[in-house]
Amino acid sequence: ALRVVGPRDLAGRRILISAGGTREPLDPVRFLGNRSSGRQGVALARAALDRGAEVTLVAANLEVEAPHGAAVEEVGTTDELLAAMRRLSSAHDTIIMAAAVADFRPREVAQGKIKKDDIGETLSIELERTPDVLQSLCAERAPGQRIVGFAAETEQDAEALRALGAVKAARKGVDLLVVNRVGWSEGFGSSTNDVMILDAAGTVVSTASGDKLSVADRILDALD
Ligand code: CTP
Ligand code: CA
Repeated sequence: ALRVVGPRDLAGRRILISAGGTREPLDPVRFLGNRSSGRQGVALARAALDRGAEVTLVAANLEVEAPHGAAVEEVGTTDELLAAMRRLSSAHDTIIMAAAVADFRPREVAQGKIKKDDIGETLSIELERTPDVLQSLCAERAPGQRIVGFAAETEQDAEALRALGAVKAARKGVDLLVVNRVGWSEGFGSSTNDVMILDAAGTVVSTASGDKLSVADRILDALD
């Protein structure tokens, strides 16, 4: 798609973006992961660079290439993502948490490959909660720093979706929350997205749908 070259309205801004999905190991050859491709986070990085921002991309298992011009830091697990985001946070005035972060991880990681013959017919794996990266970043927020979160919800009804988003925005302490509907075929992995952008109070500031680059521009427009 042809994009009209806009103003470099984000010149001087330093934006830290997480993208992709974290993976939690079960043993040396297996992990628990999610369907995030990293496309929306990478589109945000691309759009921010085009508008003159300096961008650092914390990339968790991307299925797509990182944009040229971004400083890229690769991570795998939620702990690695947390460490990278905390270390990089203070050098950025804006943080966008587009990564899909594992909520749970295996409580114990097997040091050798799990073998069928050692297990039998069923295997139960105990999971424990991971740290909430976004909530930590909000709690440690520098004065004036803007923090944008995402919310993936399978709720279909628009008002129910907004209400869930409002609760999440307040709980996390974000300035903006991008709510997107996900499902078996929507959101993850697709080249388009359909989002509702909420402020800290849970009010809809805008909605956007279309290719992930144009959705990225609408999210960046909502920053102040
Ligand atoms: N997030 C995070 N660390 C986690 C889980 C989520 O930083 N351990 C971030 C995501 O990157 C996203 C936001 O929190 O920006 C919301 O993620 P989401 O999965 O929608 O919400 P959760 O708080 O994890 O709640 P739930 O999945 O139960 O709806
Ligand atoms: Ca979650």
